[in-house]
Amino acid sequence: MQTSDTPPGFDPGDYRRALGGFGTGVALVAAHDAQGLAHGLIINSLTSVSLHPPIMLWCLANSSAAFDVFTQATTFSLNILRSDDHGVAQQFSRRGGDRVIPSDQICTMETGAPALTAAVASLDCRLRLRQPMGDHEVIYGDVVAYRADPGVDALGFFRGRFVTLKSGE
Ligand SMILES: Cc1cc2nc3c(=O)[nH]c(=O)nc-3n(C[C@H](O)[C@H](O)[C@H](O)COP(=O)(O)O)c2cc1C
Repeated sequence: MQTSDTPPGFDPGDYRRALGGFGTGVALVAAHDAQGLAHGLIINSLTSVSLHPPIMLWCLANSSAAFDVFTQATTFSLNILRSDDHGVAQQFSRRGGDRVIPSDQICTMETGAPALTAAVASLDCRLRLRQPMGDHEVIYGDVVAYRADPGVDALGFFRGRFVTLKSGE
């Protein structure tokens, strides 16, 4: 879709394909809604902004059906997915799909945020700042606790496909 915000001569589909050359890991962001249900959304926009203090950011599309849940949450977890988490990745990236995480797959972190029981790493975050930016909301969190399983293979995303990122350990 070409909009007035798109630079002239810019093909958005082609631009997305160019960005697809930047291989990433895959994460599930998890947060409670006002009723206490745990919701999950697949993202690859997470970035470590600062180590001292530990601050992460991720970007949430303004168009997401999950926008209200994730912008109202004051705590959330960022869960880096394992290579065998294809099913999780598909379920929680389906457009308009059910975003509620089954209770047998979650535990509660120090902030009270829900997290996956099994992940390469789970970062427990308290909301620091939300910043509207273009067609996304940038969400910053202070990491207050984490768990990690460094020996396990991770799920990756490259040129529109899920791939396995082999652990060196
Ligand atoms: C590998 C991958 C990475 C994604 N990264 C993001 C992201 O960083 N931010 C985001 O808002 N949506 C991201 N999405 C899209 C959401 O997971 C989901 O597909 C989208 O929100 C579906 O639309 P809905 O929320 O309106 O149902 C990603 C999807 C995939 C497959």
